[in-house]
Amino acid sequence: MTETAKTTLLNEVATYYSKKLEDHGETAQGVDWNGAESQTLRFKQLCKIIDTQNHFSINDLGCGYGALNDFLSEHYTDFLYTGIDISENMVQAAEQRYANKNQTRFIVSSSPDQIADYGIASGIFNVRLGRSDNEWQSYLEETLDTLNSTSRLGFAFNCLTSYSDADKMRDYLYYADPCQLFDLCKRRYSKNVSLLHDYKLYEFTMLVRK
Ligand SMILES: C[S@@+](CC[C@H](N)C(=O)[O-])C[C@H]1O[C@@H](n2cnc3c(N)ncnc32)[C@H](O)[C@@H]1O
Repeated sequence: MTETAKTTLLNEVATYYSKKLEDHGETAQGVDWNGAESQTLRFKQLCKIIDTQNHFSINDLGCGYGALNDFLSEHYTDFLYTGIDISENMVQAAEQRYANKNQTRFIVSSSPDQIADYGIASGIFNVRLGRSDNEWQSYLEETLDTLNSTSRLGFAFNCLTSYSDADKMRDYLYYADPCQLFDLCKRRYSKNVSLLHDYKLYEFTMLVRK
């Protein structure tokens, strides 16, 4: 994908999510989830990549207003958190929300600015708007390369599943093939890959342990 095409894509996606935040505020709906329960269920799956109770650092790519930070605080005591989002409005909301939180920072970007122990991406591969399957798949793979190169111990991401019921699928959303992505992660990133597809949402989570 050319740099220009990628910039256009990211701008369109950022505008989509900024509008969600404007309409629904700092809520699960404000980052385009159906509700808080499924948002938390996703965090629970993704955080299975974290295999320590000691200090760790984490990049939250596509952090939205930073809800993962709350989840982490409930389950871990000592972590260094960087939230990264392409929507300036999201980052502004997150910065205000966590203004007094230690070891927490946010940046407007599509790429972490430093390597962390873990990388997590929840919901960034879902809304493709008008992009073709090929275009979105190549963007997705480029973004996985970024997650890989900016995480030391492992990374985790989720995608809507191509096993979704046909009558529930929407053109502007991207439904990834979990088997194809499992194969890609095994071959390209690590021998230690888990595919979680058993938590009752129309999606799956991939854990790539290095
Ligand atoms: C579905 S929302 C989820 C937000 C958050 N992860 C959560 O679960 O509460 C996706 C977020 O990712 C951001 N995003 C989408 N693609 C991105 C990318 N390539 N890099 C950084 N942020 C991205 C959007 O602006 C949006 O805030």
